[in-house]
Amino acid sequence: MKKAQPVEWRGLPGAPEQGCSVCALDAVADGGAKMFSFGAAEKPFRLLVLRSGDGVFGYVNSCAHFGVPLAEKPEQLIFNPHVSISCNVHYARYRWQDGYCESGDCEGESLLTVPLAVCEGIVQIG
Ligand code: FES
Repeated sequence: MKKAQPVEWRGLPGAPEQGCSVCALDAVADGGAKMFSFGAAEKPFRLLVLRSGDGVFGYVNSCAHFGVPLAEKPEQLIFNPHVSISCNVHYARYRWQDGYCESGDCEGESLLTVPLAVCEGIVQIG
């Protein structure tokens, strides 16, 4: 079956610029995951931010299986804090720290990583 995963996050519509602020670090609970959108509402750039302590991991909210969001709404996000995040369509499970799919229909593929940095308590695009 054809996979629908773009190659480079920067080329996606609405992709934020380097240095763009995402949120305060404290807006994401330790071990929590949050969704953010950039760009036009009809075709937003969807970002997932996962936090572990003072560190954050960023991924495009697009499953490596069909290219659809892992979740459409924050309350639909499925994750095991500091361990994994899963797609709520067919339940592919991705590692927390690098977005590698370790089980599911797209096993061996990965979420697109978005580099993030934390500067003075603010999460920014790295
Ligand atoms: S669309 Fe995500 S696992 Fe199928």
